[in-house]
Amino acid sequence: MRNILVTGGAGYIGSNITEMLLSQKYNVFIVDNLSKGYRKLINKKAKFYKTDINKSGKIKKIINQNKIDSVIHLAALLDVNESEKKPKKYFKNNVLGTENILKVCKNTSVKNFIFSSTAAVYKDGVYKVKENSPTKPKSIYGKAKLKAEKKIIQFLKNSKINYAILRYFNVCGASKSNRYGQINSYDLLFKNLAKAALKKKPIVNIYGNDYKTKDGTCIRDFIHVTDISDIHIKVLKKINFLNKSVLLNCGYGKGLTVMQVVKEFKKVSKKNMKIDIQSRRKADLGKIVADNRRLRKFIKWKPKYNNLKFMVKSSLMWEKKINN
Ligand SMILES: NC(=O)c1ccc[n+]([C@@H]2O[C@H](COP(=O)([O-])OP(=O)(O)OC[C@H]3O[C@@H](n4cnc5c(N)ncnc54)[C@H](O)[C@@H]3O)[C@@H](O)[C@H]2O)c1
Repeated sequence: MRNILVTGGAGYIGSNITEMLLSQKYNVFIVDNLSKGYRKLINKKAKFYKTDINKSGKIKKIINQNKIDSVIHLAALLDVNESEKKPKKYFKNNVLGTENILKVCKNTSVKNFIFSSTAAVYKDGVYKVKENSPTKPKSIYGKAKLKAEKKIIQFLKNSKINYAILRYFNVCGASKSNRYGQINSYDLLFKNLAKAALKKKPIVNIYGNDYKTKDGTCIRDFIHVTDISDIHIKVLKKINFLNKSVLLNCGYGKGLTVMQVVKEFKKVSKKNMKIDIQSRRKADLGKIVADNRRLRKFIKWKPKYNNLKFMVKSSLMWEKKINN
């Protein structure tokens, strides 16, 4: 297990995983169409192919030429608000794109396949979700991810390829080197707060303060991107070793309200942000936290960065860097 193809490697999480893979001496090959990715996030030590995951011929050639043994498939569109307006675009890119990669991998050197799914596949109202908790995505983005998961299970069920479906909760922060972080906005809390903290008169939008939580704002399980990257490499080694497929929640198992995060940003950045309460967003779940016992057991995982102050500092440092 040495030659890894990372789709979406010019994006936020892909560039973080790539940096960690390279530091552990893996050979990394990146496929990204740069629709949402950035050249400055492409690690120079990786081999980069500017192409779309739907281009079967090209992808097949990349896999064969480089004797790819594992695919980490992150390429997707993830703007939840846009997905509501353009469902077809999301199904084509995220479901058909995944299906295409799966087809291409068959009868090649590929032995392992990792897919980035999301907590957005779960039904609202459960709170601490297990991998077998009911799914009922509220957003088109979540629906497309769940469909892609099903394609993976169906395609790889009787094949020699092991798969890991990783349901990430809310990813935040930047790499230790501060070279790789989030550039796209997608109206995500940490990104919005980090951006606002750099402004003279910061205003932050909060969507809903009438949820059944201690301060009325939504509850999320934030996970630092370095822990997410580490999970990928450990899970990859494990499925390869065991010849096994898995579905895993990736979160710390700790819920934070939106307001708690806002307060920490205020404290760390020393900015007195003005809060603007907006109405609830249709696709938002009220409160959701990962039951991560399966992940902890599977890779003997211990989170390293489950500290709100650290996550806030990491996001602020990155935001300052890209604004300089
Ligand atoms: N960021 C989060 O909090 C979060 C949470 C849950 C799941 N995820 C999943 O993690 C993955 C990576 O997310 P990210 O935050 O790094 O997003 P990102 O937008 O920074 O990266 C995605 C990358 O995929 C590329 N891409 C999109 N469609 C493509 C296509 N058809 N062909 C080739 N490349 C394509 C984009 O150009 C971009 O570089 C996504 O699958 C996303 O759904 C992210």
